[in-house]
Amino acid sequence: MDFRDADSNPSRRPSIDRSIDPFIHSFIDSNQAVTRILPTHTPRLFADALALAREALFRGEVVAMPTETVYGLAAHALDSEAMSKVFRIKGRPAENPIIVHVESVDRARSLARSWPEAADRLAAAFWPGPLTLVVRHNGRVPDIVTARGATVGIRLPAHPFMREIIRACGFPLGAPSANLSNRVSPTTAGHVLKQLEGRIEWIIDGGPCQVGIESTVVDLSGTNPRILRPGMISLEAIRGALGPGHRVAGREPVAEGGCGGGSEGGLRSPGMMEKHYAPKGRLVVREWETELDLVEQVRDLGHACAETCVVAHTQVPLEAEFLGVSIIPNDAEAFGRALYGQLHRCDEEGASLIVIEKPPAAVEWDAIRDRLHRAAAAG
Ligand code: TXA
Ligand code: MG
Repeated sequence: MDFRDADSNPSRRPSIDRSIDPFIHSFIDSNQAVTRILPTHTPRLFADALALAREALFRGEVVAMPTETVYGLAAHALDSEAMSKVFRIKGRPAENPIIVHVESVDRARSLARSWPEAADRLAAAFWPGPLTLVVRHNGRVPDIVTARGATVGIRLPAHPFMREIIRACGFPLGAPSANLSNRVSPTTAGHVLKQLEGRIEWIIDGGPCQVGIESTVVDLSGTNPRILRPGMISLEAIRGALGPGHRVAGREPVAEGGCGGGSEGGLRSPGMMEKHYAPKGRLVVREWETELDLVEQVRDLGHACAETCVVAHTQVPLEAEFLGVSIIPNDAEAFGRALYGQLHRCDEEGASLIVIEKPPAAVEWDAIRDRLHRAAAAG
């Protein structure tokens, strides 16, 4: 299917995802906005979408837009009222801070109380790109964005639309992933529509996300850099860019319902809670020798094959009557790009069980293992 063709008609309004809980439905029914997808695949369409999004953001409205990692729900980062709409739309708890997206390192520095040398090194190596730097802020970013913490997470994104819109606005954009809180992040405009239809007016369609997994979050506010959320920029790549003078800590394991991020300065990173990034179906990560072995594991889990979707990368089941079987590349980058799309598809098909073939143990799969672990923890 050509993705853009499917979503380019602004008047197209597919049905709302009926599995969303009743509370959200009552909200949608009483606050129904018409949600429109704006395509950007010609220079003219790109310019029109840019002008419209800019105007909406200046008015303090919220616009869903593409980044290279996942789609974001963006608003004026320095406007508390605009940012409070983002929290309401997502159903996001107030204690979870939001990443501020900037157009330059200078802008990032202008929001920071201190800008360590490590920040310069990492920005030079990975910006624009899927890396968020957590630094102490200087009070310019409103409390709602930082969740009243001492730090702010900042990212210079690579997606051309996101970069242009931040430049056109002249102010930074606060943007969490454009999903309902605790649900799977969207990697297409269609995924955003499924979850947020009726809650926002505009979704900018910038095509499928090239990275597909949320940014690596690195805390630079303590004595040593620390990974708060693994992403496709790996711990090794960060160590390499910082050089031998820095001791970079990996992410600590987190307890169910707890927060990661370590204890230095009481730093909170509530997005690290185990239950995040969950599809609706129960998700398990498994290995199997043969197809029969897989079928038996599914039955032992108390599910029928007919209600089970399998996502495999090497041992692909060919005979059993599963609800769905998808093959996803045995390569970390390609897997990362495809993973959330597969989880959205399994949800759409109504799978009660999603079995994902266990990824390899190599370091470049860290972020994928992390997201699968969280998605499995919820089930
Ligand atoms: O790739 C991404 O990072 C995407 C795109 C849209 O940029 N954004 C994203 O935002 O994933 P969100 O809100 O879904 O996840 C942000 C994560 C959360 O785990 C949050 O707790 C953490 O970053 N975070 C944000 N600001 C922080 C801060 N000041 N200190 C610690 N953690 C922070
Ligand atoms: Mg998120």
